Amino acid sequence: MVDLHSHILPGLDDGARTIDETIALAKQSVQEGVTHMVCTPHVHPSVFDNTESTIQEAFEAAVDAIHQHNIPLKMAYAAEVRLSIEIIEWIQAKSIPFLGSLDNKKVLLLELPHSHIPAGTDNLVNWLTNQGIQPVIPHPERNREIMANYEKVRWLKNLGCLFQMTAGAVTGRFRKESEDIAWRMLEDDLVTYVASDLHNLHKRPNDMGTAYKKVKEVIGQTKAQMLFQNVPAHITQSKAWY
Ligand SMILES: [Fe+2]
Repeated sequence: MVDLHSHILPGLDDGARTIDETIALAKQSVQEGVTHMVCTPHVHPSVFDNTESTIQEAFEAAVDAIHQHNIPLKMAYAAEVRLSIEIIEWIQAKSIPFLGSLDNKKVLLLELPHSHIPAGTDNLVNWLTNQGIQPVIPHPERNREIMANYEKVRWLKNLGCLFQMTAGAVTGRFRKESEDIAWRMLEDDLVTYVASDLHNLHKRPNDMGTAYKKVKEVIGQTKAQMLFQNVPAHITQSKAWY
């Protein structure tokens, strides 16, 4: 499986804190059936002030350690970018690493706050799509405004957004409301792909293998394989893997 969302790089955000944690998370991800992983540290103004250079430095350290431990996991990097006005400046400065590409558009992992969908989201999404950028919203099933009003997902879709469901949403990792939204989005064909959003071994491990089995049972192997393997592989086909 190809996992497009992980906080496995050490010391950059609320994910892995040390290189030893990075190694443990990489091993656990391989056990879940992940072969390729895109590291997506938070880029969130005043909270996690990461830049491409901080990400690249941690990425190189992680890749070296994963090779030294002979862990069969191919790595690449991008970022999970919090919706903010600064994004416009970063895109213009070409300082944001993209996840990959889809239909000739660059794919941006665009995180909303968990609490709500901020005013102005439509303007920013329109601006991005006009620049040839495809926003993918991670874990819509965990956004409280969407939990309260499912139609907000269709509103975001009509603006041009795609959606990444988090594997743990169908393995009982989060609230029941999130699980319900996740299954409803799967049934409505609104999930573009599934990723782990891996943070730590204790509460937020990689659930890709467990989630794949559950999703396969409910919506069938062909669709499950698209969501966990084919679509994420397609998005990252031109990425350099290390
Ligand atoms: Fe994340």
